[in-house]
Amino acid sequence: MTTYNLAPEAVLLARDAATFPADFLWGGATAAYQIEGAAAEDGRTASIWDTFSHTPGRVAGGDNGDVACDHYHRYREDVDLIERMGLRAYRFSVSWSRVQPGGSGPLNQPGVDFYKRLLDELNQRGVVPWLTLYHWDLPQELEDAGGWPNRDTAHRFADYAGRLHEALGDRVTHWTTMNEPWCSAFLGYGSGDHAPGRRDRELTIPAAHHLMLGHGLAVQAMRQSGSPLDAGITLNLYAMSPASECPEDLDAARRIDGLAHRIFLDPLLLGRYPADLMEDLRELSDFGHVRDGDLDVISTPLDQLGINYYSRYVVAAPEPGTPVGDPKGGTSWPGAENVRFVSRDVPLTAMNWEIDAPGLTEVLRRVHQEYPELPLYVTENGAAFDDVPDANGWVDDADRVKFFDEHLRACHQAITEGVPLRGYFAWSLMDNFEWAWGYEKRFGMIYVDYPSQRRVFKASGAWYAEVTRRNGLTA
Ligand code: NOJ
Repeated sequence: MTTYNLAPEAVLLARDAATFPADFLWGGATAAYQIEGAAAEDGRTASIWDTFSHTPGRVAGGDNGDVACDHYHRYREDVDLIERMGLRAYRFSVSWSRVQPGGSGPLNQPGVDFYKRLLDELNQRGVVPWLTLYHWDLPQELEDAGGWPNRDTAHRFADYAGRLHEALGDRVTHWTTMNEPWCSAFLGYGSGDHAPGRRDRELTIPAAHHLMLGHGLAVQAMRQSGSPLDAGITLNLYAMSPASECPEDLDAARRIDGLAHRIFLDPLLLGRYPADLMEDLRELSDFGHVRDGDLDVISTPLDQLGINYYSRYVVAAPEPGTPVGDPKGGTSWPGAENVRFVSRDVPLTAMNWEIDAPGLTEVLRRVHQEYPELPLYVTENGAAFDDVPDANGWVDDADRVKFFDEHLRACHQAITEGVPLRGYFAWSLMDNFEWAWGYEKRFGMIYVDYPSQRRVFKASGAWYAEVTRRNGLTA
């Protein structure tokens, strides 16, 4: 039987075609290194992504974020676009090395002032700001001191969070500590596909732990100041299916669910590591890096949880002679050597990620059922497609509109089942630097012509503006 945890009138609204609850937060999202540019201005120092992208062979096309969307200089114009789309919220991240060069010591006033100007602009127009403290751009000096495998980085992060909250807490209430710590730990230190590009399987699990420790310490540091705080973390969660019901495939799904999801969800929300995961990882880590009291810090109560959803993993036990591949583009998952990722014959995005909207309902339902009740937000969902502007610069991205439409219906379904989903942030507001893929992959609802920095709404941008205006989808 379905249980409803929302106010009755919200449930009624949600059941009516695809109209969302009246206070549903419609947003768009970006991240600092992906859009800001101004890499060496006003005292900003290098982050691991500056170093990585300037290392030949690391990023497609030799691209880097030196200029990106030049948002540092064009933020006013970008907030105009946000307003024109009718967005009620805007999720962005702060460049740590812009506001605290080198990752320690006092804040850098010109860097902080940039975010004050951005926040003032958003607040004046009634757009709720949603600030992420860490979207993968660790100050290079902290990487040189050992990076996330080094416990001290967690304390540096808490210091940064506390100081920034002091400086900006009067302008922004919603703070996300980390974005997708899985990627920082597994792709940054395990497979080396992301900055800092280290390939050392043994560093992965301590890195993951220290990212979560940093999260917990940061929430505690921010709660010490008097300003109101709505604190959360954003995890990348996948729908997960075994390729068959045979015990070996079921076990493969259990392993990947542990490595991709429960490794974060359980410490954060239940205050413990899953026993089966620790057993699976016993050759890789003895968990000796976990100190007494860490799990209490990590499970500091949250106000909300952010979920980034893109696709589903279908996994199986390996067949002899079959190569083990990762559809997300990672070269290996430390700890998942005995698992095969299975491709299905379903539509793909330009990233080759399988499109699976019902999986979003499954993920939301699962988190709601298995973990303590928390307000949930989809903090990212979107797709790259090969957008080609016509002679007038118009991009008719019908495939992206379809993607958003299906995934929003999946959100709506979760709400009707009683999942406390409070908002949705489309990824991304505009085309940007797609990490190791450079500028070649476009996720935006706004097309960016990089040489001229001209922005043009795509069909999906116009469509999303209509969705926010109607507070839902047409039947
Ligand atoms: C997850 C990341 O948070 C974001 O930075 C990235 O661009 C999108 N997913 C698409 O890959």
